[in-house]
Amino acid sequence: MIILGIETSCDETSVAIVEDGIRVLSNVIASTKDVFSESGGVVPEDAARRQVDLILPVLHSALSKANITYIDIDYIACTKGPGLMGSLLVGTTTARTISAIHDIPLIGVHHTFGHLSSVWLESKVSPVFPCITLSVSGGHTNVWYRSSHTEGILLGETLDDAAGEAFDKGAAMLGLPYPGGPSVAKAAIDGDKNIHPFPIALSEQKTCNSSFSGLKNSLRVCLQKEGIKGNVENFAASYQEAICAQLTNCIVHALCLYPEVKQVHIVGGVSANIRLREMIDDTCTPLTIHTPTHTEYCTDNAAMIASAGYFLMVEKPDVATKDFSTKSSLPLANYIS
Ligand code: KG4
Ligand code: ZN
Repeated sequence: MIILGIETSCDETSVAIVEDGIRVLSNVIASTKDVFSESGGVVPEDAARRQVDLILPVLHSALSKANITYIDIDYIACTKGPGLMGSLLVGTTTARTISAIHDIPLIGVHHTFGHLSSVWLESKVSPVFPCITLSVSGGHTNVWYRSSHTEGILLGETLDDAAGEAFDKGAAMLGLPYPGGPSVAKAAIDGDKNIHPFPIALSEQKTCNSSFSGLKNSLRVCLQKEGIKGNVENFAASYQEAICAQLTNCIVHALCLYPEVKQVHIVGGVSANIRLREMIDDTCTPLTIHTPTHTEYCTDNAAMIASAGYFLMVEKPDVATKDFSTKSSLPLANYIS
């Protein structure tokens, strides 16, 4: 089954062609992140305008790289939400238009469900269920127990900021460019994580929930007291360590609840973080840890949306093409309707 995926929920414009949910024939991503590096975050109206400029060139490039035409496509899977309304509209309007002209059925995919499917992309040893999935991006921090692609229980989420947001806001305080995750990780390489040992939120509680507002405040207070000069790398290393430690604690607690689980999956933009992977890997040995096979599948991309559309069609064909609403209620079953 060949699916054309479209993802435009924020500041990436992406179109992909994926076969049977796993084989990526093309995955074209035009990111406008560098445009927002100075502003410290995405300006929604600007992001939407850039989506308009980029969507058709990206679409044509994805079709030509995969060497296919619309006749070869079985379904179109498009991110239906959540995300920035203007950006989402560009993708959904494009999807609806192609669907109408070429008579290709449309599948609406919840953005988070796309991230959950990203570990299957080009994976040589296919991940299996049941698994614990940590889905960490700029918009959400979720811990799932999953028994199939479309069935699962949300075990925990952030009580305030998402982990990626904590990276982005911490980076802004440290004078590092947006997106904050990669710039904090880069600065942390030359830093000493033990110089500013920040408190790990909720570490006394047995929970899969997370909270990053206290950590952000600790960084702010520390910077006010000690000043930033000559110390950015140490702050970055300590701050990254505190975020990763908290996310690792969430996984540890999930594994206490479901000791039969054999695999841990880490997805979403923050799953690109090397220290996070290392910490979870060390803590969860001998369990197998699966992360997306390429960094481009960690951050927002259309291949994961096409993959999610495929698994949705395989497991829930009756609901997959039923509607195109932006319903985002929990649990996972509702993510897909
Ligand atoms: O999944 P994503 O591309 O978009 C959302 O769905 O939000 O995630 C973007 C987030 C940003 O907050 C960014 O700072 C973070 O992922 N991120 C990272 C890394 N690469 C991206 N965080 C930590 N370390 C990284 N290497
Ligand atoms: Zn995302």
